[in-house]
Amino acid sequence: MRIEVLDDPAAAVAELLADAAAAGGDVVLTGGSSPKRAYELAAARGDDWSGATVWYGDERCVPENHDWSNHRMAEASLLSRLDPRPEVMRMEGELGHEGGARAYEARVRERLGDEPRWDLILLGLGPDAHTASLFPGKPEVEVADRLVVGVPEAGMDPQVPRISLTLPAINAARRVVFLVTGEAKREAVRRAFGDPADPSSPAAHVRPTDGELTLYLDPAAAP
Ligand code: 6PG
Repeated sequence: MRIEVLDDPAAAVAELLADAAAAGGDVVLTGGSSPKRAYELAAARGDDWSGATVWYGDERCVPENHDWSNHRMAEASLLSRLDPRPEVMRMEGELGHEGGARAYEARVRERLGDEPRWDLILLGLGPDAHTASLFPGKPEVEVADRLVVGVPEAGMDPQVPRISLTLPAINAARRVVFLVTGEAKREAVRRAFGDPADPSSPAAHVRPTDGELTLYLDPAAAP
């Protein structure tokens, strides 16, 4: 694991995203509020994303245009600004957590096979050390026989069911990157990535089997 503490970690993450996309990679976006600036900066670089495929690590079960939709945020800050656009594999929150998870799992297997390896997965970290929509103490953290799981109960706001990649799906990636900012996340960073890490933190189990893990932190989030 590599830890980069930078004044502007979003700028570094924007470079990674844009480079992976310009190379025609399969890139997984995260939700929440932290990545918005990284998405805007990536779009501003003006690369050609037409060879890339954009996926999601998690989604809230709300209509596509709802304020809480991760896809809506990515669309506004990144995807709508790209010309030409990449292919976008949206998680269909409107199908509900179980239906949406099953549909996404089928889509992943159809496009990437039964052992998908995304080129780049971007993740955020919650103050409770959740990542994607894998919340502490919830059964989805243990799921090992699926790539995508339905999450009936979120452990944090917004309190709507979710769809999430599972830990095995995440850990198969070629590269996993966390973007974490702000003092409110410092303790979660320590629990998820300290030595020893706290096993009750879902993000403590993000450890790519045969890929790279990099944390991009601002000084406030650095333990
Ligand atoms: C979501 C997420 C989630 C997020 C963290 C951090 O849909 O809520 O993808 O895992 O990355 O909660 O979110 P913030 O950046 O808003 O703190």
